[in-house]
Amino acid sequence: MDKHKIKKSKITGIGFHVPEHVVTNQDLSTFMDTSDEWIQIRTGIQKRRWVSRDEAVSDLAIPAAKKAMAEANVFPKDIDLVIVATLSSDYFFPGVSSQLQDKLGLRTVGAFDIKVACSAFVYGISIADQYLRSGTCHTALVVGAEAQTKFINKTTKGRDMAVLFGDGAGAAILQVSNNESGILSTHLHCEGKNLYNLWMEGPGSSSPDQINAMTNEQANTYEPLMNGQEVFKNAVVRFPEVIQEALDHNNLSINDVSLIIPHQANLRIIQSVAKRLNLGLDKMYINIQRYGNTTAASIPIAICEALAEGKICKGDLIILAAFGAGYTWASAAIRW
Ligand code: ACO
Repeated sequence: MDKHKIKKSKITGIGFHVPEHVVTNQDLSTFMDTSDEWIQIRTGIQKRRWVSRDEAVSDLAIPAAKKAMAEANVFPKDIDLVIVATLSSDYFFPGVSSQLQDKLGLRTVGAFDIKVACSAFVYGISIADQYLRSGTCHTALVVGAEAQTKFINKTTKGRDMAVLFGDGAGAAILQVSNNESGILSTHLHCEGKNLYNLWMEGPGSSSPDQINAMTNEQANTYEPLMNGQEVFKNAVVRFPEVIQEALDHNNLSINDVSLIIPHQANLRIIQSVAKRLNLGLDKMYINIQRYGNTTAASIPIAICEALAEGKICKGDLIILAAFGAGYTWASAAIRW
């Protein structure tokens, strides 16, 4: 079969939205035992955005989705698939996708959430790509959004995680491509044996009695926990591995890549990945200093900013790469 005749999907519009409230490292040091120096040396983060008490993740996802729709010149009636990548939905159930279907005035199309942590936006792109290439859907909305700081312990006890994370949302419209540009391939992975290195237990059905557990003082159950060094060691191996997998699949080499958009977990992880791939840091898009780790939202926010800075041009080969809780990891190769 002529490879060029195989249908592709492409991102036709993308947008992001972050909360107003900026929290600097200095701000954090006023309510937990940490310092700007510790955070910057270990993570590269200078500030992040936090939702306010009365904001939820849908308040970030909706404006991001509207921006992506406007850029793609897509109307509510056009969308026939909604995928929301989030760990921090407004409610335990249903997912944020139901709220988007309603608040964006969409038809009663398929809409669901996926909970794959930092890899979730790339998973979402991959799922949408399958629906579009099969002809089942024509216009998909994929959102990565987090209001995860609502779940974080903002005292010294939770400082290892509290300094890393921020809130935000990014959204993309995907449609069938009628030219060479589009998603070339996606690769998804999971290795559940490591899940307890980065996880949050509750609310969950593993509890013998969820209602009573909620009322007990079981603080650990309801805050995310992390073995940071184990996560770091795995991330620096899995990122290059999944990037190379994308290249091999498409018979491309690292020299063909214009820009890698990695999940923004930690500046040191990104630096180490660049070194392992023998790439200059200028080929890795980095905005973690401004937003911290926004989990499922980090890649779409980074794509928006890279585009605005003129770092992505038509015809460029872009690789999205993510690693996170689960453990999960994933990549997408895109001809822009
Ligand atoms: N401020 C000040 N001190 C701190 C803080 C903080 N925020 N957090 C921990 N410390 C202390 C520790 O208590 C420890 O003190 P001790 O030596 O007295 O025991 C000391 O700093 C060193 O702690 P380590 O955990 O050994 O520090 P490390 O160099 O491993 O850095 C970090 C921690 C930044 C979490 C690192 O392990 C890391 O980046 N891991 C990757 C985790 C990650 O990116 N997770 C995001 C989610 S997954 C993903 O997106 C890929």
